[in-house]
Amino acid sequence: MVVKNICCLGAGYVGGPTCSVIALKCPEIKVTVVDKSKERIAQWNSDKLPIYEPGLDEVVKACRGKNLFFSDDCNAAILEADLIFISVNTPTKTFGNGKGRAPDLKFVEGAARMIADIAQSNKIVVEKSTVPVNAAESIMKILKANQRPGVSYQILSNPEFLAEGTAINDLLNADRVLIGGEESPAGEAAIEELCQIYEHWIPRKKILTTNTWSSELSKLAANAMLAQRISSINSLSAVCEATGADITEVARAVGLDSRIGPKFLQADLFQLTGFGGSCFQKDILNLVYICECLNLPQQAAYWQSVIDMNEHQKHRFTAKVIESLFNTVSGKKIGILGFAFKKNTGDTRESAAIYVAKTLLDEGATISIYDPKVEDAQIYEDLKYVGVSSERIASHVSLFRDAYTATKECHAIVICTEWDEFITLDYEQIYDQMMKPAHIFDGRKILDHNNLLRIGFHVETIGSRLAQPFKNRRYSTNVQTL
Ligand code: NAD
Ligand code: UDX
Repeated sequence: MVVKNICCLGAGYVGGPTCSVIALKCPEIKVTVVDKSKERIAQWNSDKLPIYEPGLDEVVKACRGKNLFFSDDCNAAILEADLIFISVNTPTKTFGNGKGRAPDLKFVEGAARMIADIAQSNKIVVEKSTVPVNAAESIMKILKANQRPGVSYQILSNPEFLAEGTAINDLLNADRVLIGGEESPAGEAAIEELCQIYEHWIPRKKILTTNTWSSELSKLAANAMLAQRISSINSLSAVCEATGADITEVARAVGLDSRIGPKFLQADLFQLTGFGGSCFQKDILNLVYICECLNLPQQAAYWQSVIDMNEHQKHRFTAKVIESLFNTVSGKKIGILGFAFKKNTGDTRESAAIYVAKTLLDEGATISIYDPKVEDAQIYEDLKYVGVSSERIASHVSLFRDAYTATKECHAIVICTEWDEFITLDYEQIYDQMMKPAHIFDGRKILDHNNLLRIGFHVETIGSRLAQPFKNRRYSTNVQTL
């Protein structure tokens, strides 16, 4: 079989960009991305795509209506597909067995049942969602139990390694593509079909093939090890503050060791408010749960500590904000710059900004929020989800369209996302319209702290001690001119 028709179940952050790039690079293949959410599909077919991702608009515009289609007709797309990607969400379970740790596989199971119900010809089913080890086996069980005569399936694991904000570049220039499959002639043939799709733009030596379980575990392992690096550097940030060392210097010195390397230690990427995003926490919890189920308590505890350190870091950062504001934020106005979990995305899933905002609101602060890409409705939804009442949102939360109005008359600014535009703001102007003393908490270590101190700000960050201005700038300027 040569794949001519691809269907992707799930038009989210992974399904949308991944299939858009496949359509771009494989013009002879018809790619249909389907979702059970009609609203999401309508957005994919509009001028305002449902997700913000640099470069995505251009790719979609180049292919949509030619060989790339977004549809809510899942049945038709499944029927005509030779190969089906399952790119549905796999959130952490919020109830029942494994609550708070195990991934909820109901959407994967739902997708498998849908395929089994509808398929009338042979299909290669590709697990693109991040799943626990052995999920392919469960999918196969569902498919086989509902198999029509004459229809056969092959299941492949093909985890996605893209990061949000750089998805298109990550897809076009992937470090590697990983494909796991059954160790049989039919399994190998299916792997080869998927290899041929990626070979349109990824060199063969970067396409790794392995068995299904290794592939599934590799995805969890990669995310766990990336997150572990951030927790490690964040744990050292506390040691720096206690000793007078500077985390930026430590990270640079450590990263220059070629065995370690600078990525995910880079000062300008530090998530000193704790890492966020839809994947890290969920996937490590998944790994912890697997270890527990396999009766490997020490291994479970080791990976759990990566999450615990991240929780501690979020708490440490927010506690620092409150402590520096004379131990009370009640009645104070605080400007939060950035709500997305990282720059170049409008995604707020597990964003540390949600925790910061909730804690400040619980302590009685009024907050003003500005993020260049996050929709207002999303911010309200996130705050409600963590238990902030509608009344408190109405009375204590304001959303703004720019950083200058968001920070007006604030006692403090908290930088939660490393958006480039925050680096080049006119902080003199911002300072002038803030309450004094004016505080800035740089949760991303992106600002020029010497400049801020010169202006008169009290600057706090994580991972280094900063000398604070004891005099108000305006006062000292006046003294000089007298
Ligand atoms: P998402 O929530 O953005 O998108 C998932 C979509 O699947 C939703 O739109 C939902 O409506 C749809 N869906 C659910 N069940 C369906 C069904 N039966 N038929 C059709 N559509 C269905 O999720 P995402 O961020 O794209 O993540 C998808 C998977 O990829 C997850 O397992 C995640 O862990 C993994 N992953 C995500 C990233 C990332 O950066 N977001 C990176 C790598 C891997
Ligand atoms: C992550 C993985 O990187 C990606 O391979 C996987 O497919 C999905 O999960 P993503 O969550 O989109 O991607 O973004 P990533 O760049 O990994 O950032 C995750 C969190 O770590 C963000 O909150 C980010 O700010 C933080 N981070 C990242 C740091 O704190 N420091 C760094 O050096 C890098």
